[in-house]
Amino acid sequence: MPLPLFRLMPPSTLGSYAMSGCLLTRHNHTPPRPPNRGTVKRSLQVAGLVGALAATWRMYRYLQVQMIKLQSRKKDIQILQFPTDPVRRNEWISYYTFRSMIKEIIDYAFEYTGGVVTASSESSPDSWGQVRPDLPWYTLADISSHSCKENRIWVTFSQGVYDITEFVEQHPGGEKILMAAGGSLEPFWLLYALHSYVSGNLSAEDVSEVMANMEDPYACEPRRHPALKPSSKKPFNAEPPLPVLVDSFITPAELFYVRNHLPVPEVDPATYELEVDGVGSETFIFSLDDIKKFPKHTITATIQCAGNRRGEMSKVKPVKGLNWGAAAIGNATWSGARLRDILLATGLRDNQPGVTHVQFEGLDSDPANVSYGASISVEKAMDPCGDTILAYEMNGNPLLRDHGFPIRVVVPGIVGARSVKWLARIIVSGEESCSHWQQNDYKGFCPSVDWNTVDFTKSPAIQELPVTSAICDPIDGSSVELHDGNLMVKGYAWSGGGQKIVRVDVTADGGDTWHVAELIAQEGNIRPGRHWAWTLWRADIPVLAGSSQVLILLLVFVCENYVEVWAKAIDSSYNTQPESFRNIWNLRGVLSNAYHRVKVNIVQS
Ligand code: MTE
Repeated sequence: MPLPLFRLMPPSTLGSYAMSGCLLTRHNHTPPRPPNRGTVKRSLQVAGLVGALAATWRMYRYLQVQMIKLQSRKKDIQILQFPTDPVRRNEWISYYTFRSMIKEIIDYAFEYTGGVVTASSESSPDSWGQVRPDLPWYTLADISSHSCKENRIWVTFSQGVYDITEFVEQHPGGEKILMAAGGSLEPFWLLYALHSYVSGNLSAEDVSEVMANMEDPYACEPRRHPALKPSSKKPFNAEPPLPVLVDSFITPAELFYVRNHLPVPEVDPATYELEVDGVGSETFIFSLDDIKKFPKHTITATIQCAGNRRGEMSKVKPVKGLNWGAAAIGNATWSGARLRDILLATGLRDNQPGVTHVQFEGLDSDPANVSYGASISVEKAMDPCGDTILAYEMNGNPLLRDHGFPIRVVVPGIVGARSVKWLARIIVSGEESCSHWQQNDYKGFCPSVDWNTVDFTKSPAIQELPVTSAICDPIDGSSVELHDGNLMVKGYAWSGGGQKIVRVDVTADGGDTWHVAELIAQEGNIRPGRHWAWTLWRADIPVLAGSSQVLILLLVFVCENYVEVWAKAIDSSYNTQPESFRNIWNLRGVLSNAYHRVKVNIVQS
């Protein structure tokens, strides 16, 4: 990213310059000297230099834009409307440069393999399953003979025939798709919205055979608030606009981010049953009413997805996963029965030998009937101060379907992935959950580990999350007016494991001057280690001041007048966020907690 051509000076600095000038004058009794010709000349020279630099910069940007447009046309990349806003334009340029780079790599790979593949996974979703007259035609018999890596793995989707051999090798959990090998991908495509490579076409008669009796597993999804911005529709994954998060300490349930891996199950509360296994030989069954008979416990807790802020990390180097912004996090009150009380009722005792984990299974499942699952340590499950609950209420109302109706586990202080929704089964065990999401996902790795070298058995499953924060208002790329030379910034901060947020630091000059934010909403009277809720904060950061304003007003006409604001939080263990994503990059884009940075365009009121 280009640096601004000038640095805005905080008033504190300007104030001290002005003050020291004033003191000197008084002590020395020297009358102020009028500007001499030399000074005027030098000022004009500086102004001329700044103007020339600005013009050169603008010319450079113009040429860069034209080159990208030209390159994009050549590479058949769809050009969206070109942004006029300088901040957006910068992002647009890096995005399209990146896209054309990826496309070049793919083109090269296709030429290199010399295969039948002609379209890339970057092609628009609308074209998936369409007939490609330039490709050969196959019958179902041809396709079924391509069901293993040696013969290449082919699947059908509508009228398209797709070679997914590479996808299976590279994608975590890609082996699941092998269930579709040599056959139709529809049920899996509908579940995972896969990307693969077009190889040919399936005849129309065969399509109707394949599609017979096929139902959309997402046909009964709940209605969602239109403000939620989906990063994938099937399964539904969405986050609210960032400024919504700082409007209230408690996130409204309808605007709480949604992270679903599978279709939302329809559960009848009257017949709902929770099974508890593993404590002795008996299986325990609890109805919803049984669970509600346990003492009701209410906590305020933030739930955050392991992939929150992945979009920022992926700017360093691409990662696999949904492109989450900074709003895959929310804070709510949750009420329900303590997991500890339920487990004690089934006969589990504290420190029971042989018991190390408590596993959870959801009612949501894939076509092979494998349900979502996760586990936590038995210490967290049984800790009387751990506050793990089987929640039936969110913000005082029954859970919404998207958030786990009628019962979900809420494991405060722990990554969202372990707060299993639509809870069907609890298994007390000496083993972790064997689910894909516990074993082969939601783990951190060294930045140098890639998809060729990754070994999921070598990293522990993420449980407590590291400290993080984000600026929610203003959002990146927006234009803002100053108030008395100050930029008002608001955001959230949170740390895993029940750590309290003790401070949030904000800077608008690349770290030369840090300002301590005011913590405007934080849960009071909380015992150490039980700070499950986030902290909201605000800071008024001085970016323009007094005499410099005239100069800046002039420069605004020739330069891009943006300011980059950074925020970092500090928790009660004095852990803080890393400065950049470069050295915490990991191939799944999880634990993405570097300083949050937004660039805003200062407009003159
Ligand atoms: N539980 C089930 N049964 N199925 C899921 O897909 N997603 C998990 C967790 N619990 C999931 C689940 C993940 S990854 C997250 S981040 C949280 O739910 C998201 O909870 P929310 O959708 O209520 O915000």
